[in-house]
Amino acid sequence: MHAAQLDEAHRAIEKKLPERGNDYRLGYHLSPPAGWMNDPNGLAYFRGEYHVFYQHHPYSAQWGPMYWGHAKSKDLVHWEHLPIALAPSDAYDRDGCFSGSAVVAGDTLYLIYTGHTWLGEPGDDQKIHQVQCLASSTNGITFTKHGPVIETPPHPDIMHFRDPKVWKRADQWWMALGARQGDDPQLLLYRSQDLHHWDYLGCALDGQREADGYMWECPDVFELDGCDVFLCSPQGLKPSGYDNWNKFQNSYRLGQLDNSGCFIETSQLRELDHGHDFYAAQTLLAPDGRRLLWAWMDMWDSPMPSQEQHWCGALSLPRELSRDGDRLRMRPARELTALRQSRRTLQIGGVESQSRTLEVRGALLELELELDLAGSTAEHFGLALRCSEDQRERTLLYFDAMARRLVLDRQHSGTGVSGVRSVPVAPGQTQIALRIFLDRSSIEVFVDDGAYSLSSRIYPRPDSLSVSAFAVNGLGLFGETSAWNLADLQL
Ligand code: FRU
Repeated sequence: MHAAQLDEAHRAIEKKLPERGNDYRLGYHLSPPAGWMNDPNGLAYFRGEYHVFYQHHPYSAQWGPMYWGHAKSKDLVHWEHLPIALAPSDAYDRDGCFSGSAVVAGDTLYLIYTGHTWLGEPGDDQKIHQVQCLASSTNGITFTKHGPVIETPPHPDIMHFRDPKVWKRADQWWMALGARQGDDPQLLLYRSQDLHHWDYLGCALDGQREADGYMWECPDVFELDGCDVFLCSPQGLKPSGYDNWNKFQNSYRLGQLDNSGCFIETSQLRELDHGHDFYAAQTLLAPDGRRLLWAWMDMWDSPMPSQEQHWCGALSLPRELSRDGDRLRMRPARELTALRQSRRTLQIGGVESQSRTLEVRGALLELELELDLAGSTAEHFGLALRCSEDQRERTLLYFDAMARRLVLDRQHSGTGVSGVRSVPVAPGQTQIALRIFLDRSSIEVFVDDGAYSLSSRIYPRPDSLSVSAFAVNGLGLFGETSAWNLADLQL
């Protein structure tokens, strides 16, 4: 049954490929060959290769019964698509193999995921059944399902109960799950010796609807630089000041997870990325000890114009996480410098109340520069990216001196998208260091060595390729700028 369903899904993808449009197709980010992608799932390092699975609907570029798509890489840069790993083929996962994680035990790669069934009408969130399931593989390609290993939630009034994250702590396997009790979110923990038999440990942390949202999707719990981090995707947080303007977002708090399974918080809830499209982030401990993170570089309800071209969804670049006091830092994985083609150095210097086109063009670019705040007088100054010849289409990244914020503005970034997002610039800060990655339909900005990041999808025309520096009402000073065209790997 499972094998037949996988074969049929592969045939559907093969059939769609010739029809796929590539206007917005990403050059160096993972996206599905065709069809729909959401959350990264099951990040693992198995027999010398990184494996990334993802929520996938192979039959259309819309969300539907979830499969697990699969790709692997030796170097975090070059990825190979592999056959779909999981299909919703059994009574317990009939309506979707929802998000989860992967671990390696001995010579076996295990996937732990949520089996989802609609009890009422498909799409009716009030009547669902969710169980936690296990599958395994010894070749890293084909998976055998072992069925549910946690059948029912620990409390009868919990129905939303999903996205298992499994990790090894001391000699035992631990599992974190997101749950919703009434309208309040909970982080639940289970423990196991063998991945097949699980004991309920308790609720590690519970939240309140108003402050914490109503459900913590895709939880992750890991140790980082002497602290424990609880990362999750809260649903239902209200916008506050400049924060939480996306439908949902990724948030984290720091603390200590004790051996009894209690998470004691030591920091407030913070947003992880500040762009428009970043959700369901998950991490992996690389063999060299780095904590790597991927997110879905989209958001529920975001405009997705590539759907008309028979695909949609992408993963963010892999990022290296580190801790700086009670904040997390995210830097692009160091391997990504391998994408750089020839380097160009630009001396932009001062730009006064005007816009100047730069000697760099491309849809796939990396730019590294500093904005010199101390020497500038402009109200706004920064870069216009992916500009059309008539400058009507453009994505702006600039310092707003009045608000003292770095702003990413996609009001004119092409089809469908709009809106601005921004991050604070500390009083007294004299420069902003930027590292910018542009792909055909994305921008990821790393600010001040990863202190902040902004990740958003943009959908400019394929021929909107120029870059300019601009300043409004006054002088904007730019430090030396390095620019690289990046390899088009057509992942
Ligand atoms: C998060 C999420 C998960 C769920 C999956 C379904 O984006 O809603 O909670 O497992 O997507 O595709």
